Amino acid sequence: MDKLVIVGGQKLAGEVIVSGAKNAALPILCAGLLSAEPVHLDNVPDLQDVRTTLKLLNQMGVRTEQDGARVQLDASNVNNLVAPYELVKTMRASILVLGPLVARFGEAKVSLPGGCAIGARPVDQHIKGLQAMGAEITIEHGFIEARAKRLKGARIVTDMITVTGTENLLMAAVLADGETVIENAAREPEVGDLANLLVAMGAKIDGIGTDRLMIQGVEKLHGAQHTVIPDRIEAGTFLCAVAAAGGDVVLRNVRPNTLDAVTDKLREAGVTIEEGDDWMRVRMHERARAVNLRTSEYPAFPTDMQAQFMALNTIADGTSQVVENIFENRFMHVQELNRLGAHITIDGKTALIAGVEKLSGAKVMATDLRASASLVIAAMCAEGETLIDRIYHLDRGYDRMEAKLTKLGANVKRIKGNEA
Ligand code: EPZ
Repeated sequence: MDKLVIVGGQKLAGEVIVSGAKNAALPILCAGLLSAEPVHLDNVPDLQDVRTTLKLLNQMGVRTEQDGARVQLDASNVNNLVAPYELVKTMRASILVLGPLVARFGEAKVSLPGGCAIGARPVDQHIKGLQAMGAEITIEHGFIEARAKRLKGARIVTDMITVTGTENLLMAAVLADGETVIENAAREPEVGDLANLLVAMGAKIDGIGTDRLMIQGVEKLHGAQHTVIPDRIEAGTFLCAVAAAGGDVVLRNVRPNTLDAVTDKLREAGVTIEEGDDWMRVRMHERARAVNLRTSEYPAFPTDMQAQFMALNTIADGTSQVVENIFENRFMHVQELNRLGAHITIDGKTALIAGVEKLSGAKVMATDLRASASLVIAAMCAEGETLIDRIYHLDRGYDRMEAKLTKLGANVKRIKGNEA
């Protein structure tokens, strides 16, 4: 397994181009299943979860071509409607083929996503919504099997706001017979990006960006060209990195208005942030103030930024509380941050962080995607050398993170698994 070796103490300076949004690219790639005509995508991030999704589509018979950030999908010859356990167990977002397969082919067999480090993450709402649209669903031998001659429009109210649940049901509804209303829909920008692609493919969707999506089903969808929105979580990760390590960095290819909750909290911590149409400049030349935060659904503070902001709080001036309201086990980074000298205690959904002047380098282990980003940020502020193991977690969700940080002046080196 690859490791990262980071020597702390470097300030960050320069420019970084933020990649396309992982959590928009994954549902958008699966939406390619909905049409027999080619879909041309741009600004697709080059990271492990995208490569896994392309592999999943290829074994279904989808022809794909990837040239840097450009991806072309051709689902004119899909001949296998199964998402196997071997792939699904490496990436839960594989569940996003369920809606498109049932919508276009009338059947699907998708392995149940197993457990995950950050929580149970059931998919009961995905299933409930498809059943409301007339799908016959059985769950046995670890597979979800779904069948429907043709899905029927329905009014669906999910029990809680679910991002991929909304996306799966949206992709099912666009080819259903009649109108579907999804109440309590997720409003994350990535859901809107998927909806915009579907409209470009000929879908009829109203309420994009709101918590009520109204879809008029159509007979079929045609091909389209689409550019994936920038990754607001990657952008937020770099903002937190500069806030913690100090420096002056310009982020290019971002949408500042998708990050307001994070930007507000960073300004409260004393960070200077300027915003343009598609750029942000972040400056920090003193110790941050400790800031309380609570995660919630968009547009509130994103759970995917909780670990990164906690890394900043570990060295901030004062004590802070971080409340994780979305996932039941998303504090795996806490013990590892404490190994670097942080003073964090957990009480249920709340982490209490007493800021310290300095962290000290140590051997630590990544446990999940955003936890690994949190450890990278903390390591850049720690005295001496930090070795982060299992960074395949980082590679799943970030496009060339260490190359971007090195360009900004960080001292980050990758040790390949076989070298260690
Ligand atoms: C998406 O996961 C993201 N992944 C996650 O990003 C993100 O943390 C999460 O949304 C919340 O914003 C992708 O978009 C690929 P949910 P998702 O369904 O859709 C419960 C990252 O780091 N729930 O919105 O799986 C669930 O357990 C990843 O990039 C049910 O109970 O999250 C959770 O507590 C991590 N039943 C809450 O709802 C369901 O059927 C929100 O989950 C569905 C969800």
